[in-house]
Amino acid sequence: MPTFQIQVNGRRRQVQADADSPLLYVLRDQCELHGPKFGCGLGQCGACTVHVDGQAMRACVYPVSALGSGAQVTTLEGLGSSARPSPLQQAFIDEQAAQCGYCINGMVMQAADLLKRIPKPTEAQIREGLAMNLCRCGTHQRIVRAVQRASGQPVTA
Ligand code: FES
Ligand code: FES
Repeated sequence: MPTFQIQVNGRRRQVQADADSPLLYVLRDQCELHGPKFGCGLGQCGACTVHVDGQAMRACVYPVSALGSGAQVTTLEGLGSSARPSPLQQAFIDEQAAQCGYCINGMVMQAADLLKRIPKPTEAQIREGLAMNLCRCGTHQRIVRAVQRASGQPVTA
């Protein structure tokens, strides 16, 4: 089985995987990073979202061999920790955005990408930015509020 050198959350990791193995499997099974979740496995729900070179990607359909040399992968664990959450993670906590929590990894990672591109998004831009991330518990309002809070804007949703 081929060996890959990958950079995850600022650390160099050596992993063994088939070239077409999804990055998600490598992160969860070999790097023991369980922030990214397996939802649909088809690129449709967003639960597995990570950043590759700062851009949100669906790790369930991203082959590990597609990572360019020196590509930087960031997972939820790379944004912050339970003890030291990032401001965005803290906003999700403050707005009690999680119900079962399964979608929240994807929501946070997608929102982090959005806020990097649009630091003060309108409510419509937040909804559009997260439209392809599914939440079966229906906590969308609280998720939108969390992103508004994280962007330092009034919470209106
Ligand atoms: S698990 Fe990757 S998009 Fe659903
Ligand atoms: S909080 Fe349960 S799926 Fe979103």
